[in-house]
Amino acid sequence: MTSSENQTLPNLTANDGLVLPAIGFGTYKLRGFDGSTAIESALNNGYRLLDSAVNYDNEGTVGKAIHQSGVPREDIIVTSKLPGRYHNHDQAVETIEESLLRMDLDYIDLYLIHWPNPIENQYVEAWQTLIELKDRGLIKHIGVSNFLPEHIDRLVKETGVTPAVNQIQLHPYWQQQDLKAYDDKHGIITEAWSPLRRGGETVKDPTIVSVAQKHGVTPTQVVLRWHVDYGDIPIPKSATPSRQIENLDVMSFDFDDEDRAAFAGLDSPDGSRGDFDPRSHQEM
Ligand SMILES: NC(=O)c1ccc[n+]([C@@H]2O[C@H](COP(=O)([O-])OP(=O)(O)OC[C@H]3O[C@@H](n4cnc5c(N)ncnc54)[C@H](OP(=O)(O)O)[C@@H]3O)[C@@H](O)[C@H]2O)c1
Repeated sequence: MTSSENQTLPNLTANDGLVLPAIGFGTYKLRGFDGSTAIESALNNGYRLLDSAVNYDNEGTVGKAIHQSGVPREDIIVTSKLPGRYHNHDQAVETIEESLLRMDLDYIDLYLIHWPNPIENQYVEAWQTLIELKDRGLIKHIGVSNFLPEHIDRLVKETGVTPAVNQIQLHPYWQQQDLKAYDDKHGIITEAWSPLRRGGETVKDPTIVSVAQKHGVTPTQVVLRWHVDYGDIPIPKSATPSRQIENLDVMSFDFDDEDRAAFAGLDSPDGSRGDFDPRSHQEM
């Protein structure tokens, strides 16, 4: 163990004052009674930042877990996302009101535009609607997901409001250095989706396994610690309570230069999980 043994997880602060814990919890595919039990377990295991979306069909599941957990509502930061098919003003208003009804909450802490869908080209209207609903108090903080600098620049130019968060695919194989630097420059917190690249092969990667063995921790723990040091917020999903605990327990070791170099070497132009170019990806 090093001098950083049992350090607590840091917080990150966005340009609008939003404070987020350094690791959140993804809920994609957690649905129904089993999903609700898994999310309630995550809350009781210490997660305070939850990530959902209209398109995950699980906002009711997330709301149920929040209500059943006994964790005070004000301690939880719940996120949802607006799908591409509802970018126009009236449908966006209805969708966000429906999110509140499904979750049975008075407000949602963080609402993101899920994808820019620039071919439909309605994301500025969606952003203006999020600003309006923030002013109404239905959502507390607003952000985007899968946005490139060109999309964010346009939001700022046309509305004067910079997103607090940009949630993007980011992991050791796809480090998104330019986009992360852009977010940092504008006080935008970068959240990382698929931070474990969906588990699986990542936990078997010989480079990652070797760093993990050196520190006496698991491959997943070194990947999540890499995220914390990189300055993004990973939102790993796990239905497994023991893994939920493992994934928050990442501050009992420190990387040395050799470890940092090993992780830097994993970044690859082919590292993306699937073809998700925000300029052309259509997610409705
Ligand atoms: N904005 C977007 O467009 C977008 C896109 C994709 C995802 N997301 C969000 O990002 C979240 C996370 O991404 P993701 O779900 O795609 O992938 P992920 O978090 O990278 O990986 C999840 C997978 O890793 C496994 N896993 C978790 N902890 C583990 C551990 N300690 N050891 C071994 N395996 C482990 C999980 O298995 P078990 O569950 O069986 O434990 C699951 O199969 C999603 O849930 C969602 O909220 C957002």
